[in-house]
Amino acid sequence: MAGPDTHLQQPWGTAHGIPMVNAFAHDWVRIDTFQSRPEDIAVVTFPNSGTTWVSEIVDVILKGGDPKKCKRDAIINRVPMLEFAAPGKMPAETEQLEAMVSPRIIKTHIPAHILPKSFWENTCKMIYMGCNAKDMAISFYHFDLMNKLHPHPGTWAQYLEEFMSGRVAYGSWYNHVKDYWERRKDHPILYLFYEDLKEDLRREIVKVAQFLGRELPEAALDAITRHTSFEAMRDNPTTNYSMVPPQFMDHSISPFMRKGTAGDWKNHFTVAQNERFDQDYTQKMSGTDLRFRTQI
Ligand code: A3P
Repeated sequence: MAGPDTHLQQPWGTAHGIPMVNAFAHDWVRIDTFQSRPEDIAVVTFPNSGTTWVSEIVDVILKGGDPKKCKRDAIINRVPMLEFAAPGKMPAETEQLEAMVSPRIIKTHIPAHILPKSFWENTCKMIYMGCNAKDMAISFYHFDLMNKLHPHPGTWAQYLEEFMSGRVAYGSWYNHVKDYWERRKDHPILYLFYEDLKEDLRREIVKVAQFLGRELPEAALDAITRHTSFEAMRDNPTTNYSMVPPQFMDHSISPFMRKGTAGDWKNHFTVAQNERFDQDYTQKMSGTDLRFRTQI
């Protein structure tokens, strides 16, 4: 068995040349050969873009809009993360997924070009959630500080450079969001935006339900909207990650449910950082019609 600290704060590993959480990068063949099922629903995001939010929404929709049924277990067990692994400590998540009954909701941050082929071949429905890069980077920075499976991110200024160069887990945010945006043209991908959910959560829940072919009564939609508000999810142990052992996530450094707002980046970026970021962003995002809102 690996010792308790084997996976903690290790430098990024790689998967097909993409920076990857060290503990996940081992034995990547389990990911390449993963067998999806046509009825699988994939929740796909770059990290810290609202993955947990969409995962909870999808689970409660599949449960007919009954929030009580979502309290059955922690979100990490209801919506397993495809690539999660801690070799020598627990079975890889792919094994847990194999044992799950359909329809499975599968969370992943894997970039489109290295996502297991089986998802594309089986035309699995995917719900992609994007969040504007500035808020997402702030959230990811705080997550790196508290998540002990990630290396320490250094100062915010250092981290911002790493982020812009794609030297963070899962690589380039820019390529990630653009690639899934393009692939939605010939694959069933519902592309959502964090800012849209902040603006009108109920409207976006209706979109998700329609995409999944579920008709829900008004009362159920109201219940889902209440159940997936920031405050409700922050106070719910099955969604706020407080059930994860503290040696992996230290909420005293930064709670997982940290701010839950659009525009928090303004409290962190200096004027110079913002100018540099915008200039670089324009270059990296030229040639796409994908647009994010950095405030609502
Ligand atoms: P902050 O760090 O900005 O607060 P992910 O689940 O992809 O890791 O994303 C985490 C981010 O989503 C965190 O952002 C978290 O607070 C936010 N989040 C989770 N549930 C939310 C909700 N119901 N409403 C708004 N934001 C939510």
